[in-house]
Amino acid sequence: MRVSVVTLFPELVEAGNRCGMVRAAIEKERLAVQGYNPRDWSDDPNRRVDDRPFGGGPGMLLQPGPISGAIDAAVAAEAVRPLVVALSPQGKRLDRHVIADWAERSQPLVLVCGRYEGFDQRLLDARVDEEYSLGDLVLSGGELAAMVVIDAIARRLPDVVGDAQSVVEDSFEADRLDHPHYTRPPEWEGRGVPGVLTSGDHRRIAEWRAQAALMTTARRRPDLFAEKGPTAEERAALERHWLEPAAAATGR
Ligand SMILES: C[S@@+](CC[C@H](N)C(=O)[O-])C[C@H]1O[C@@H](n2cnc3c(N)ncnc32)[C@H](O)[C@@H]1O
Repeated sequence: MRVSVVTLFPELVEAGNRCGMVRAAIEKERLAVQGYNPRDWSDDPNRRVDDRPFGGGPGMLLQPGPISGAIDAAVAAEAVRPLVVALSPQGKRLDRHVIADWAERSQPLVLVCGRYEGFDQRLLDARVDEEYSLGDLVLSGGELAAMVVIDAIARRLPDVVGDAQSVVEDSFEADRLDHPHYTRPPEWEGRGVPGVLTSGDHRRIAEWRAQAALMTTARRRPDLFAEKGPTAEERAALERHWLEPAAAATGR
């Protein structure tokens, strides 16, 4: 999958490309990330890309020309028309469905990062297909949001995560949160590990994990049940463990 990032700070995105899953996806040629710096399309002798907003008010705004130049170059570099996405706190909320859809479709993406007070509205109207937000918080630039998108896509691309099953079992995949995990040592600071996990009984371990995931979801994100309501089996488990919270916590 090919992702272009329109950014005043390509070095920030490049740093992310050198680490972890994103690096693995690039090395395995599942992912290609290319930066486009709008300053390269500025006609200002000092490569300025911002100006004061019409109507006054605080801050500076990105001028449409350099951003559109960078977007047009990124689009022209693709054989297939890319989806052009601006990162913006005013966009639709990014979530797992959006990321899974982008990763599966594998249509090239152009991620456009704002800075200062953001974008001139005409640029959004003329060049951008969608606006997406990381959530109800304001960053000083879109780069970290773009890096979040790239990372979340990278781990969904084929052969990138060593054990594909681990992606399938992650939080949200089945509209449930993940179950708790434990590793060595078996006792740490006086805290043990749920006995079932060291029993070697794979059927009981799978049951415990399913129930623990269910209880975590019920306590922390009951809204996920709106997407996929509890099955009859899950409903019975919820009722049982609601009455026996100690059993749910320890797995014994
Ligand atoms: C300081 S913000 C501009 C905020 C804008 N004036 C507003 O209130 O909607 C600068 C840039 O950071 C990025 N940004 C900030 N918050 C974001 C969020 N929650 N999700 C995605 N991008 C964000 C956007 O690219 C934005 O253009």
